[in-house]
Amino acid sequence: MPVPEPNLYPPFNIVRLSHVELVVSDLTKSRAFYVDTLGLQVTDEDSETIYLRAMEERGHHCIVLRKGETPCARDLGFKLFDEESLEKAEAFFRGKDLPVDWVERPYQSKTFRTRDPHGVPLEFYVKMDRLPPIHQQYKLYKGVKPLRIDHFNCFSPNVDESVAFYNELGFRVTEYTEDEETGHLWAAWCHRKGGVHDMAFTNGLGPRLHHTAFWVPTPLNIIDLLDLMATTGWVSNIERGPGRHGISNAFFLYVRDPDGHRIEIYCSDYQTVDPDLEPIKWDLKDPQRQTLWGAPAPRSWFEEGSLFEGAETRASLMRAQPIVAP
Ligand SMILES: [Fe+2]
Repeated sequence: MPVPEPNLYPPFNIVRLSHVELVVSDLTKSRAFYVDTLGLQVTDEDSETIYLRAMEERGHHCIVLRKGETPCARDLGFKLFDEESLEKAEAFFRGKDLPVDWVERPYQSKTFRTRDPHGVPLEFYVKMDRLPPIHQQYKLYKGVKPLRIDHFNCFSPNVDESVAFYNELGFRVTEYTEDEETGHLWAAWCHRKGGVHDMAFTNGLGPRLHHTAFWVPTPLNIIDLLDLMATTGWVSNIERGPGRHGISNAFFLYVRDPDGHRIEIYCSDYQTVDPDLEPIKWDLKDPQRQTLWGAPAPRSWFEEGSLFEGAETRASLMRAQPIVAP
């Protein structure tokens, strides 16, 4: 299926991705990973929950860690432009017979949960409590110096369907990988905020969350994180990289948290705000699409991901095999 034409006048206005809630089995271990190692800032915490933000973020949280018995991913949060967008979004999802549940979320204004047609849990809101800026408080910078949440990447059992749905919501495709033999999409990168993506979809057993990514100032911050992880007991949590992606052109590293949730550290993609930006097409057999340079991805990177709470997974129909490290 060809990539759809961009929908420049979607039914409601999504500003950007905002936050995700991850269920973790041991908050102390997770705190050691996200706060002491990655360097995210704690904005609130109790015995059940830790709220985190990155250094540039004014909103209260970009990750919520919630203690639970079965690690999983919960809602992917998106910020809407205004109250009118929230009303229009509710009507849109109800019109598709998708669930709409209004929920109480600390530090957020009126919020509803829904799911996309594959079962990915989503939540939409307009305002989050604002905190004083800390981006120039350099004494607070630690770990990899995370500046802001950048994107989610999800396994999808049918990437064509995922792209069609998010295109309706106004996400514009910047890059995609096509299986030349079948003409189907293997993966696609779609944005709202003017970077390469807010959401990406990769073919595989899904829906599952493949990773959540954070933007960092320079590649050197990634090298510093590797040195830190290698000498503080986290070396086996380094999964892939460092390297340079073909798609997005970002310098990258993938690490796994204590429960296996995958975090990408991501540096320097490019601006995509032009409404007529042409998407870049990649062949699934091109080894430089994922890794312009660097070691090939390990099998775990293609196969493992976080289950979404309450979502049934199904196998993808596409069986094409990308290039896996030996
Ligand atoms: Fe990514």
